[in-house]
Amino acid sequence: MENHYAIFADLANKLPHAVRLQRVASAVRQQFQCGAVGLLKLDGETLRPVAAEGLVREALGRRFEIARHPRLAAIMASRAPTRFEPGSTLPDPYDGLLDEHQGQPLPVHDCMGISLHIEGRPWGALTLDALHRMTFDDAARMELQRYALMVEAAIRVAELEQENQALRMGRGNADVSADESVVGKTEIIGHSKVLQRLLHELDVVADSELPVLLTGETGVGKELFAHRLHQHSRRHGKPMVHVNCAALPESLAESELFGHVKGAFSGATADRPGRFEAADGGTLFLDEVGELPLSIQAKLLRALQNGEIQRLGADRTLRVDVRVIAATNRHLGNSVRDGHFRADLYHRLSVYPALIPPLRERGSDVLEIAGSFLEQNRSRLGVRSLRLAPASEEALLAYDWPGNVRELEHVISRAALRAVSRGADRADIVTLEPELLGLDVAARPDGQPETAGNAPLPATAGGTPLSLKNAMEACQRQTIRAALDRTQQNWAEAARLLKLDASNLHKLARRLGIK
Ligand SMILES: Nc1ncnc2c1ncn2[C@@H]1O[C@H](COP(=O)(O)OP(=O)(O)OP(=O)(O)O)[C@@H](O)[C@H]1O
Ligand SMILES: [Mg+2]
Repeated sequence: MENHYAIFADLANKLPHAVRLQRVASAVRQQFQCGAVGLLKLDGETLRPVAAEGLVREALGRRFEIARHPRLAAIMASRAPTRFEPGSTLPDPYDGLLDEHQGQPLPVHDCMGISLHIEGRPWGALTLDALHRMTFDDAARMELQRYALMVEAAIRVAELEQENQALRMGRGNADVSADESVVGKTEIIGHSKVLQRLLHELDVVADSELPVLLTGETGVGKELFAHRLHQHSRRHGKPMVHVNCAALPESLAESELFGHVKGAFSGATADRPGRFEAADGGTLFLDEVGELPLSIQAKLLRALQNGEIQRLGADRTLRVDVRVIAATNRHLGNSVRDGHFRADLYHRLSVYPALIPPLRERGSDVLEIAGSFLEQNRSRLGVRSLRLAPASEEALLAYDWPGNVRELEHVISRAALRAVSRGADRADIVTLEPELLGLDVAARPDGQPETAGNAPLPATAGGTPLSLKNAMEACQRQTIRAALDRTQQNWAEAARLLKLDASNLHKLARRLGIK
């Protein structure tokens, strides 16, 4: 009974959205004494885990297409609990994703789920998996039906809190759900502190009219962040116009940006508006702004200063109302110093500079993001389940990622394709072993050969020096794994061996992405 009260007690408290949902999942797991619980939110045609207990970390990055997962389809098709007999042959979306059976096919197990509804509309699903010889009987099903009401109440509160926050941030029509469906397409995955702090900061800036300059290494997701800024701004109903400055030839740049009138140059057969006009009322996204030719920089500066533009060949000027977001992977300060970028334009664009952290600084986010790429490839290649071997997870965590998320995307797609083309059975769980990833994990900064032991050593990619923090974390991971191996995965014993408090070991393992 006491878990009923846990959810009720939470209702009276203010809790961050993700925390509230996580506590719901944990209460359900305790109440039903089951191995794993998933709380999944409907997002168009897919279900997206928003909280999970007993599932591996990367499960949170997965998106399950309902049409491709018959168990989820059955759950969503009914308002009553759906139970799958232990002998059910329907493929399980969690195959290989359960904490206790990482990378293994699921043992014969009992599973049930129920669809959740908020204000009469389907919101998502709650799934329960029992792993140990125990079954969900009729009483458990009845209990789930009742329990779902409480879960729905908690979700409703969580959503209201979110809407409230959106309202406070001045987004007049706080239709959070409608908004999220757009956000869903450009979702920024990850729970690391650095990322969460940055997202929070950007949500506040989004609401202002300040120009934002997004900087960061190649492949960190600047484009994604730019879209999110626009979606979270008051201009989200208006267009966001993307200009790739690197692809603008100097001769055409002016007409592209500001438009031209008929006859302005040979070939100008009609009046044509430029990107500035197209973005009127909305956001102009100047991507790769560091590549803009100097002559164009001067004209851009004038447009930004006066809020006025002039079509090429026209006499009169036009007023435009645009907010500018710019992005570059260059160090613009250096470009200014070297005379490639105008200092005055730089200052105008970088009123609010935001540095997107490289992937290697986002801890176990790399596993979550990998999870979303695994699911995409699973579906693309028609594989039942695609998983990372534990050693591959370590390799991903230890690698330096000079190409950041874009590189991760390529690494996962390439590894999945390799696995399948080398004859992996697509009807089975396909596990990606480290050699399939092709990461340069054996190269050590000191040039020493890799020591014995199966844990991969930290990477130095493309000669980037290995950071001390990465090296220490890799060493911690290796030591914890060794202790776990020696104690047959007994965490309490491993903690004693390592002279650590058990709860600290769990915390550390989670932070290092081992759990
Ligand atoms: N946190 C994230 N979660 C999921 N996908 C991400 C995340 N960050 C980046 N991506 C994906 O990584 C890829 C690279 O991102 P993006 O193109 O935005 O990089 P960029 O910073 O603009 O790089 P460049 O400077 O080379 O243009 C995209 O496919 C993007 O969707
Ligand atoms: Mg880019």
